[in-house]
Amino acid sequence: MSKVAIITGGGSGLGQATAIRMAQEGINIAVVDVSEKGGNETVEKVKAEGVDAIFIKADVSKPEEVKSYVDKTVEHFGSIDYFFNNAGISGSGKFYLDTTIEEINQIVGINLLGALYGVRYVAEVMLKNGGGSIVNTASSAGVIGQDSVVTYSATKHGIVGLTRSMVAEYAKDGLRVNAIAPGPTETPMVRAFYEANPEMKANATGGIPQKRLGTPEEVAELVTFLLTSKAEYINGEVIRIDGGFTSTK
Ligand SMILES: NC(=O)c1ccc[n+]([C@@H]2O[C@H](COP(=O)([O-])OP(=O)(O)OC[C@H]3O[C@@H](n4cnc5c(N)ncnc54)[C@H](O)[C@@H]3O)[C@@H](O)[C@H]2O)c1
Repeated sequence: MSKVAIITGGGSGLGQATAIRMAQEGINIAVVDVSEKGGNETVEKVKAEGVDAIFIKADVSKPEEVKSYVDKTVEHFGSIDYFFNNAGISGSGKFYLDTTIEEINQIVGINLLGALYGVRYVAEVMLKNGGGSIVNTASSAGVIGQDSVVTYSATKHGIVGLTRSMVAEYAKDGLRVNAIAPGPTETPMVRAFYEANPEMKANATGGIPQKRLGTPEEVAELVTFLLTSKAEYINGEVIRIDGGFTSTK
């Protein structure tokens, strides 16, 4: 029987590229996003690869909507084998003391609580069915300290803790939980930003030993590898995919 994956933030960027790459492996996909437009676009692209896909509109920062995307996936597909726990926002790029409490709450709510809620409900289904595989999206800012992203960095370090500690509790029951830590990657959002600010792109790529940004397709390849049985003995890892960026810090 075909395997089933839930991908949050599946309507754009890393989530969309991974949905398409997983579909090429014959995996059915539940695309979760707040954006109907992006989510439906991904479903169309995934179906073009010959697998089944559904869009579920949900805000990952709301626990009842997380429970509902998990229930709807099980209702439609019968199980959940893979979970790419990926939805996230970047924040305003201000120094910490210039950020508001509302902004802190929003970033923590989506990036960290959203990821915790997702694992809470998805792992429950997976463990009932004998196991599964989860990849959480951290970031370079989840493995090193950086200015202008204090709250974001705190949430992404939290993702690393979530990943490692889940393994301590549930690896014995057939659960694998890994994280990726991408450096600046040319998703539509990042591309548009750098097109408007070309000097910032030069700055960003200048700090990367490989002298270029990553691509969503490169990240999708890594996530697909980690999620599927090709990575059966990799557990609790945080894999950096950043052109050497954090290795030089
Ligand atoms: N692009 C990069 O350079 C980069 C680097 C490191 C980590 N990341 C992380 O990768 C993940 C994906 O980022 P991306 O670059 O693909 O961004 P993106 O903006 O292209 O995609 C993110 C998707 O998440 C959705 N989303 C946002 N808030 C949501 C919510 N509350 N509920 C459900 N969906 C929501 C958006 O609608 C969007 O479709 C994020 O967690 C981000 O922090 C990105």
